[in-house]
Amino acid sequence: MQKEYKRYLITSALPYANGPIHIGHLAGVYVPADIYARYMRLRGRNVCFVGGSDEHGVPITIKARQLGITPQDIVDKYHTLIKESFLRLGISFDVYSRTTSKIHHKTASEFFKKLYDEGKFLEKETEQYYDPEAKAFLADRYIVGTCPRCGHPEAYGDQCEKCGSTLSPDELINPHSSISGSIPEKRKTKHWYLPLDQYEPWLKEWILENHKEWKPNVYGQCKSWLDNGLQPRAVSRDLDWGVPVPVEGAEGKVLYVWFDAPIGYISNTIELYPDSWETWWKSEDTKMVHFIGKDNIVFHCIVFPSMLKAHGGYILPENVPANEFLNLEGEKISTSRNWAVWLHEYLDEFPDQQDVLRYTLCATTPETKDNDFTWKEFQARNNNELVAILGNFVNRAVVLTHKYFNGAVPQKARMTAFDSEITEMIPGIKKALEDHLEHYRFRDSLKEAMNLARLGNKYLADTEPWKVAKTDMERVGTILNISLQICACLTIALEPFLPFTTDKLRKILNIPEQLPWSSFGERDLLAAGHTLNEPVLLFRKIEDAEVETQVAKLKKPVKKEIVPALPSCTIDDFSKMDIRVATVLQAEKVPKTDKLLKLTIDTGLDQRVIVSGIAEYYRPEEMTGRQICLLANLLPRKIRGIESQGMILMAKEPDGAMRLVAPLEGIGNGAVIG
Ligand code: 2FM
Ligand code: ZN
Repeated sequence: MQKEYKRYLITSALPYANGPIHIGHLAGVYVPADIYARYMRLRGRNVCFVGGSDEHGVPITIKARQLGITPQDIVDKYHTLIKESFLRLGISFDVYSRTTSKIHHKTASEFFKKLYDEGKFLEKETEQYYDPEAKAFLADRYIVGTCPRCGHPEAYGDQCEKCGSTLSPDELINPHSSISGSIPEKRKTKHWYLPLDQYEPWLKEWILENHKEWKPNVYGQCKSWLDNGLQPRAVSRDLDWGVPVPVEGAEGKVLYVWFDAPIGYISNTIELYPDSWETWWKSEDTKMVHFIGKDNIVFHCIVFPSMLKAHGGYILPENVPANEFLNLEGEKISTSRNWAVWLHEYLDEFPDQQDVLRYTLCATTPETKDNDFTWKEFQARNNNELVAILGNFVNRAVVLTHKYFNGAVPQKARMTAFDSEITEMIPGIKKALEDHLEHYRFRDSLKEAMNLARLGNKYLADTEPWKVAKTDMERVGTILNISLQICACLTIALEPFLPFTTDKLRKILNIPEQLPWSSFGERDLLAAGHTLNEPVLLFRKIEDAEVETQVAKLKKPVKKEIVPALPSCTIDDFSKMDIRVATVLQAEKVPKTDKLLKLTIDTGLDQRVIVSGIAEYYRPEEMTGRQICLLANLLPRKIRGIESQGMILMAKEPDGAMRLVAPLEGIGNGAVIG
């Protein structure tokens, strides 16, 4: 017998707000979590589905530095984009907030402080790399050098992206700071550590003994961590972006992003339910489930539970149904190579087809091993399953009812043995569906829900009401009544998976409110005489050309082409160039062009106009107020009728993208570069 809980707290990994959402995120985390949350609500359970953006961490600071904007600018942009695209896909969060919120900073800070005050942390001084020029400790990612394994000259202090080796900064040959280029030195710094080793016996019992039902991939990864022995983990960092460590003398230190992010689940619940959040987090009759990808297992099964245990008073997750990874057209998804299907782009390019993506991703969820998304399969699932089975069945049942009965649900007269056989299969489908969903088997559950549509489709094909109509209208009425009851049932069975479609279907069937799960399988969901609305097609065929366009759009790996060196020049050659710091006062697009911006700049010497081909990479409002480097004595030339007096210095990325080259800190206009 399954335990009934009073509340279901469903969390989904907080995505980093430094890029858009792609199909890998969706298949691994958000689509399954949403199906589960919707199913639980349909069953009348009390659900809180928590999401939000993870807005701290070193990669966000690196991206901001590269773009010459602040980390806050980055997370503002992506938080909005991510939140909106989730909404458009129907991911039904009860709350979607962010870790830069005030509530989160307060919650995370207090959480840390309680553990600190109670002596739950170890305090350790270690030697870390320090950039004497930038006057900052360097996160491993900020240290660059030659990879000791493959000789790649631009390996990071934590990883070589060429050969994939995990590294420590000490192993790099010729390490230097990617902020200033200077050679980092070792300096002492103090940090706080969560002594995971102390929690090991408890974790072993809690997971290895009491949660043997967890998915094998999750259980196996936990077992391997626990068998290898846990070490204390630093929960603070020397960084200026994050939740400040709330301890005297800890200036310049913030909570490690993996310490504050999971607390985000708590903060976001507080934001939603300021008065009752504790019943969600502190009552044994709440069931908490974390939906995550496999790279997050250690943090959700080992680190966060140890934090909750150290704090005391909190419940622990009942299950962590982590998924493996989704590949794309046979290759790993890579955001830097643009080998991805981005959610916001899909939504723009396939309007009103949210459920096709939801369907395909659920059908290819990487539940037990990595799985592959291909556009061909996307097309096939749409054309052969959604159109040919589900859409076809519903359409035939509704069109025939309009044709023969004026759109009113006909009477069910005598049922044949075959009719009974068909209707008696419905409770079995319901039960199997429940069993799969309760146990996080989303692919099987989708198959089962579609079996209901298959059943209806086969029933119509076998009974052929369009032929029977020549002789026995009473029989046609019975067939259509049974078919329409199956359609009504589909509005329940498919709601967790295809909410946009079931909405449409309810409208066609003229069912004003969502039917609850408990009515699934009832014989007379639609009373005889109930009138249907006009049918609309639930799905449309996807053509070859549409998926071919998508495949073509995937950029093949960009080889990092380093531009060859130019012949030597003398210092005299160089000193002929008058390169200065200047500030953009005004920026506007040059009318009727895509690439050109007209910039009015203050050079310290004068104010002048420059026309620059950067409109593809920078919006006018991003340019206003920024400092730039200017080749000031380039001969003026007319571009689109505007005299351009100089040239802005830009760096060209290997993929052709142009990035501004600007001073690291504010410098007076007119300062000469040389
Ligand atoms: O891996 C990630 O994308 C992390 N941002 C997930 C954080 S989950 C939770 F802890 F917030
Ligand atoms: Zn390497």
